[in-house]
Amino acid sequence: MAMSREAFGSRLGFILAAAGSAIGLGNMWRFSYQASEGGGAAFVLLYIAMTLLLGIPLLLAEFSLGRSARLGPVGALRQIGGRHWSRLGYIFTAAGLLILAYYSVIAGWTLRYALESLTGQLPADAGAHFGAIAAGNSAVGYHLFFMLLTIGIVMAGVRAGIERASLLLMPMLFLILLGLAIWAATLPGATAGYLKYLQPNVEDFLNPDVWRAAAAQAFFSLSLGMGAMLTFASYLSRDVNAPQAGTLVALTDFSVAFIAGLVVFPVIFSFALQSAVGASTVGALFIALPTAFSAMGPVGQAVGTFFFVALAVGAITSAISLLEVVTIWLIDEWQMNRKPAAALAGLTITALGIWPALNTDALGLMDKIAGELLLVFGTLMLAILVGWKAKSEMQAELEHGASTFWAAQVPRILAVLRWFVPPVVLVVLVFSARETWQMMLDFFG
Ligand code: TRP
Repeated sequence: MAMSREAFGSRLGFILAAAGSAIGLGNMWRFSYQASEGGGAAFVLLYIAMTLLLGIPLLLAEFSLGRSARLGPVGALRQIGGRHWSRLGYIFTAAGLLILAYYSVIAGWTLRYALESLTGQLPADAGAHFGAIAAGNSAVGYHLFFMLLTIGIVMAGVRAGIERASLLLMPMLFLILLGLAIWAATLPGATAGYLKYLQPNVEDFLNPDVWRAAAAQAFFSLSLGMGAMLTFASYLSRDVNAPQAGTLVALTDFSVAFIAGLVVFPVIFSFALQSAVGASTVGALFIALPTAFSAMGPVGQAVGTFFFVALAVGAITSAISLLEVVTIWLIDEWQMNRKPAAALAGLTITALGIWPALNTDALGLMDKIAGELLLVFGTLMLAILVGWKAKSEMQAELEHGASTFWAAQVPRILAVLRWFVPPVVLVVLVFSARETWQMMLDFFG
């Protein structure tokens, strides 16, 4: 088995695939609504702090586990942690299933908006439009369409599918986003948007909820806590400088979120659309921005098309990594071939996604449970496994292939993982569990 395992063809291919997993709807949809609703610039600053202090150590924890075991989460955790830890692998796999089920529904909306902007059919009243298309049969249809694209890429394999798609799509996304940020700077009233985005308010720092949201956002955005990065690292050559690659991925992910904010905030303030943003978690992307785009005529049509294409591109490179976690479980543990494994996993997820495609409250609940609570729990366990139980092994793994400079950082990073990450994540977990519970009461009550 180990002999035939697939591998990334190049270091750049791995970095772009990992960055592709990280960069997605989280950077644009989740990041901008959290920043606009909870804490503005304070949230942004805390989010970068969490990315550096929690995100990078946890990312490297996943890299070390995956690269040393050369197996997906279930097998890797069994091999490194023992039989009990393999159960965590099942939780990871289940989280992948659940996250992709609703993620794909949102991605389906972006595909629809991209097509509608392109053909000039995006209605001027974006609020009413979104209300009409968010849930229902057409949402199921676009979800299916998006899943089929994702399944196709994962079926093609690590090198011919995942790596090739990332090498093509990631540079495209960077360019579009950069162009949009430059355009947004030219809007009248952009400054008010920048101020809200970049000028912190001291009170917001004192709100523990802003801290929880910033940590949870860092995990989601870096694809941490469910073995997606672990799985990609299992295809990575041991000669690659893993600490450097991980740091690069984290900084790229942060930069894209930051640049997305430089697009979203000026547009919202320039068109006085703050109220549309606050209305729902999807307000900024699917209501406020399209309203602005349609107010701008043909320029808006072009900008809108690019924007939603960028979103769809980010979503697909992320969805690949979620599907890969479930697929590799079928390949590693059930000895299935890649193509039927990807199809079976993908179609199961497609079926699961029908629920959130018909019910946006269900979508929100799934995001809370799988996209936040399970990930926070997952990162806590990863920090314990790599920071305590398998520390010396994982330290050696990370030092292997690292340059002198980066090898010298490894013990420091592991010390952070051992002493700092678990207590902080534990606090986040408590807050997150409380919120999830509240949300479940609201949903079922
Ligand atoms: N990080 C992606 C985003 O920001 C989403 C994602 C892909 C993800 N794989 C994941 C989130 C694994 C959590 C876990 O859109």
